[in-house]
Parts: sequence; structure tokens; C-alpha cells
Amino acid sequence: MHHPVSGFSKKSKSEKIEWLARHYLKNPESVATLKSYWHQDISVQQLHDDFSENTVSNYWLPFGLAPNFLINDSLYVLPMVTEESSVVAAAGNAAKFWAGRGGFKVSVSGTTTNGQIHISYPGSPASLKQFFEENKTGIRNAIRTIEKNMKERGGGLLNLELLDKTRVLSGYFQIHATFETLDAMGANFINSCLEQMARTFKEKAESFSVFKNKNTFPEVVMSILSNHVPECLVHAEVSCEVDRLQSGKLSGREFAEKFVKAVTIAEVDTHRAVTHNKGIMNGIDAVVLATGNDFRAVEAGVHAYAARNGTYSGLTRAAITEDIFTFQLKIPLAIGTVGGLTSLHPLSKVSLEILKSPSAKQLMKIMAAAGLAQNFAAVRSLITTGIQKGHMKMHLTNILNQLQASEEEKKKAQIYFKNNPVSHTSVAEFLTDFRSPSNQHIKQ
Ligand code: MEV
Repeated sequence: MHHPVSGFSKKSKSEKIEWLARHYLKNPESVATLKSYWHQDISVQQLHDDFSENTVSNYWLPFGLAPNFLINDSLYVLPMVTEESSVVAAAGNAAKFWAGRGGFKVSVSGTTTNGQIHISYPGSPASLKQFFEENKTGIRNAIRTIEKNMKERGGGLLNLELLDKTRVLSGYFQIHATFETLDAMGANFINSCLEQMARTFKEKAESFSVFKNKNTFPEVVMSILSNHVPECLVHAEVSCEVDRLQSGKLSGREFAEKFVKAVTIAEVDTHRAVTHNKGIMNGIDAVVLATGNDFRAVEAGVHAYAARNGTYSGLTRAAITEDIFTFQLKIPLAIGTVGGLTSLHPLSKVSLEILKSPSAKQLMKIMAAAGLAQNFAAVRSLITTGIQKGHMKMHLTNILNQLQASEEEKKKAQIYFKNNPVSHTSVAEFLTDFRSPSNQHIKQ
């Protein structure tokens, strides 16, 4: 058991690593491993160090490309950051499949985000309402300076509303604020606005005669944006004639009917819905990460939306109407293409360049297409070959690396496992056989 450390953040990077090595690292190579992931350019490394406190190294993930995304008639290559071996391949496959069938049709139906000032007030709701109506303009005007630039560009605070929440929690009220943050995700902007309005709320409340009694003074509990953004919505759709969906032994109609059934199961069953939506997020998160956006915010918002009707449900819908198969996804995505990490991380900048410098609205569309493509690929595999065939094929290299296979062994394994099921055991057995002196002939 170690003692708690104090002043850790004040230590230099080397001191932090020394401390870590002394107290936690048993493997003598771990320090070298940490250091081997430092960027060779000191200024780039410094940039990464500054992203977060107590940075001692960088954590690399593959940055891949999924080409052939035809989105509203424009072709895109999607930068995707993910560790899951089959995700980029699946996205690329689905993109190519739909590029030959008209591509993805996507639209944004809203970009409004929101935040709340949470208030505890044991007095009469009518008094708080009166106070709010009398002071709403003053509270709103308090953010003039913070809002100036955003307003000049056409965004800012859209509305302030006092909500009586006493039915769900005694004495609980909320000032619900809606915002338009244009190409920025706007988290800092919204939180600064909310905190300033909360300060002004308090100042004005102090001079409001009805609140003179200390026991009925409205207390600001907290002020924070919400990641539940059901008004910041994007819709993506693909469609084609049922006949054009033939897959293996399944006719186009059989495939379409089985596909619709699989998507409907995710609509009605929570166990399936969660995994179904995880598959959608495989695509979305990869683009969110590549573009330096906040994947936790996106995840939280998307899953809240999936449960908006009281039951957690799949986020895509599939249907067959008169020989036409349609497959759609509707999700909230509050993301940005300016500010935050998007314009700081050198690789986010490259990602945005690859995506033709999109506006936030365009990026929402691209991400929605990525999610729909990923879900199509997953469900297609599930209802035809099963997921493991493609997944394990991609994972084979990881297993071979884990088992320290040589380049020659990897080549032979790729050939052998084209027609044999991949598992950790089967690959280990293959290598043992391959390496055994009695099997030298295989190597020829
Ligand atoms: C794996 O990362 C994602 C899937 O499980 C999604 C799904 O089941 O639809 C394949």
C-alpha cells in the first residue's frame, strides 16, 4: 500500500515517470515504453502534454481511412480512429456497396443545443416566476460580452425559460437556456454564459423584496450545459431496389426481409438494441475521435436519445415498401469543426482537411453516414455469415502479433486461415505445427 502523493502535478514529466517507476512499475522496460511514444518534435510533444494534466506519454490508436463514401452526391474519404480491427474495413465495404446504389442521403433538421441553471427554491412558484419575468432581460444582458463574437456570426443564446420541476423533486426549478453555437461544439461558451447568468440571477435575487426571508431564497445549485441534445438532429438514409441486395445464398428479397427483422428486433429488445447501437457508434466515434471531437458527449447524447421514449431502443429503422428497401438513422450530434481540440490537434486538422474543411452541419452528416454504414455492415454480417468470420479475419494479425509470429509465419497463416476458423487456440496450434521440425515441408 503506497502513501497518497501530494504536489504530483507540480513535478516535471521526468519526475512523474521516476515516481511511477519507483512505486508502480515492475517491468524494467515500462519506462522506455512510455518514453518511446513521445513525439520526436519537442513542440508537438509539448502541445500534447498541455492537452491534459500529468501527461507522461501519448496513447497511439490507428488512424485509418474508409474511402468511397458517397454522401449527398459528393465523394468522401473518412478518417477513422479506432482500435477495433474490423471497423474501418466494414465501413469501407458498406460505403462502396451504397456508392453503387445512390449513396447516403443526409440532412440536418436542427442544431440547437441547451444548458440549465439548476435552482433550489422552497418558496412559492408564483414568486419565483414573478422574479424571473421581471429580471429575465437583465439576466440575459449579463452575457453580452461573452456572446459578442458568437452573436456577430449569427449564433448565441436563443431563449431562456423558467421550468417548474417540483413535481419530480420538491423545490426544484430550472432555467432552461437554448443556444446556437454554429461551427463550434460550444461547451465552454455555453458554460461561461450559464455561469455568468447564474451570478447575475443571484445578484438580482438579493435585491428582490420577496426573497428577503432567508428561508425562501433561491439557491443556484449548479449551472452546466446538457449533453442531451434532441434538437440537434441529423438524419441519414440509404435505399435501393430489393433485387439489388442479393447476398450469398439469400435473394435480394430474402436478405431485405431478414435485415428488416434484425433491425426491428433492435427496436423492441433492449439487449439487442444496446449492441446494435454500439455497432452504429463504432463508425461515429471513429470519426468523432479523428476530428478531435468529444466522444463522451456524443455517446451520452446518442444513448439518451435512444431511450427518449422511456425504453432503450435501436437507433436505425429499416423497411420494404413496394420493392424498395430503405434504411435510416436519426441521431443527435453536437459536434464542432472549430475550437477545442479540432483546431489544436495536428491530426484533427488533417482529418478536417481530408473531409474538405466541413462546417459542423456537414460533419454531422458525414458522421451519420459513417454510423449508418457501420450498422449496415454489422447487420449484414450478422444475418449472413455471422460476425466472427470477418471480425476474426481482421483480428488474425493481432493474434499473430501476440504470439510473436515471424513475417513468414504471418504469410502462411493468412493463407491457411482463409478457409479455416480463426481463434486464439487455432492460431497457436497452427504456429506450433508450423514451427515443429517434422513440418519443415510446409515452409517450402
Ligand atoms: C462489434 O463491435 C459491433 C457489433 O456487435 C454490432 C452489432 O452487433 O450490430 C457487431
